[in-house]
Amino acid sequence: MQIDQQYKIIEFKELGDERGNLVVIEGDGMDIPFDIKRAFYIYGSDATVVRGQHANKETEFLLVNVSGSSKVKIDNGREQVIIELNKPRMGLYIPAMLWKDMYDFSADSVLLVLASRHYDEKEYIRDYDDYLKIINENN
Ligand code: TYD
Repeated sequence: MQIDQQYKIIEFKELGDERGNLVVIEGDGMDIPFDIKRAFYIYGSDATVVRGQHANKETEFLLVNVSGSSKVKIDNGREQVIIELNKPRMGLYIPAMLWKDMYDFSADSVLLVLASRHYDEKEYIRDYDDYLKIINENN
């Protein structure tokens, strides 16, 4: 499958008023395609750091830079796309089995990640050659 048909950029509704901004992310197919089982956020990374560098066999993710900006490079073994996350209303949906790197974090970056599954180290692929092998076996 082409990478453009695998990831999605989602623009969330803005429910703000004169008191400030409010963004809601409902799971289960309402705003994002999966039921949210886990949330974590990454901050205090800087422009020299590369995070991620793994694929997940099962977990789907939704990434939002709720503050600042970062870049995400996603790779399906054949194509790569770089996406800059820089708006609290902008979400990046990443399905299972895409390789991902997060980098170029601004000093004020807070990267919120919503996940479809609980943490399980066994479903992580952390070696890129292993990733390519698995992708190619399944195609
Ligand atoms: P890591 O996978 O390296 O984070 P990133 O994808 O941002 O580069 O995770 C760092 C550590 O945190 C590692 O020891 C695993 C642990 N961890 C959890 O225990 N639960 C989680 O949900 C996540 C994402 C990581």
